Amino acid sequence: MEDLKKASQLIDQSASTDDLEKARVEIFGKKGLLSKGFVKLKDLQGDEKKVEAQRLNELKDTLTQLFDTRYVEIKNKEIEQKLKEDALDLTLYQNSHQTAALHPVVETMDRIIEYFVSMNFSIETGPLVEDDFHNFEALNLPKNHPARDMQDTFYFADNSLLRTHTSPVQIRKMMSTKPPIRMIAPGVVFRRDYDLTHTPMFHQVEGLVVDVKDKVNFAHLKSILTEFLLEMFGDVKVRFRPSFFPFTEPSSEVDISCIFCKGKGCRVCSNTGWIEILGCGIVDPNVFKSVGYEDVSGYAFGIGIERLAMLIHEIPDLRSLFEGDIRLLEQFR
Ligand code: PHE
Repeated sequence: MEDLKKASQLIDQSASTDDLEKARVEIFGKKGLLSKGFVKLKDLQGDEKKVEAQRLNELKDTLTQLFDTRYVEIKNKEIEQKLKEDALDLTLYQNSHQTAALHPVVETMDRIIEYFVSMNFSIETGPLVEDDFHNFEALNLPKNHPARDMQDTFYFADNSLLRTHTSPVQIRKMMSTKPPIRMIAPGVVFRRDYDLTHTPMFHQVEGLVVDVKDKVNFAHLKSILTEFLLEMFGDVKVRFRPSFFPFTEPSSEVDISCIFCKGKGCRVCSNTGWIEILGCGIVDPNVFKSVGYEDVSGYAFGIGIERLAMLIHEIPDLRSLFEGDIRLLEQFR
């Protein structure tokens, strides 16, 4: 009985799984209490040996049960303690998740679309892979026009091409509906160009208004574009400069006073005080002829989105807009 008392004390007094492991070795180990008892059996004879063997076996069962019960007790306590210590401290929560932001080109595009939709323009789209007719021919671009040069246009083997501007959407719209038309066509366009201010893929918003003869004139065009630029840039001067496009006559390029130097002259505006923003004009009669329109009048314009985005966000290298560098995009959050 002495050995039972000693062993159960060892088990009871264990306060951790480490203590309990020591107790296990002392009781059940090779040189432990029980082993010693079993070794002594060889000195006994007959019934005495039998009784002692039985006692030792019962003692082993009893101690094993005691040990297991204590083990579960201690283990549970330790788990509970660990849970308490490791509990999530929600007061340490930091708002570290990052929200997305619109790409400056998308954001600028959205602002332009919003303006023209509010002016009752519809939104039209067209294919990116165009044919010669829609991209050039119907737009009064003669066969020898420099814009058709291999330098500018990406051609496919079958002579189809990546549209070089959004103007073919004008043609598609006019050929599929009757006037009046009041549309914009936002989208990507492609040209073989690559430097500080040019990328092979960029964005334009085309505009086209067509109505009966004499109903649409340059004053309308001037008024809506001036209004648009004031809305986009706030307090700027707007000037219409005579220019040339094959599909408009008369044609004009539109400048705003430099938003960086307020017209005084700086690096951005090449010391002119003005920044070119878009091209526009009165639709050339040849364009109407090619889509089968008669007795109509209209104006058209084309806005380069990257140019606007660069100006609004003061981005010095246009190419950085398309490098997908998270550090650039993070600045527009
Ligand atoms: N399509 C012209 C360009 O890409 C822009 C433009 C559109 C000019 C409509 C006048 C009228 O440069």
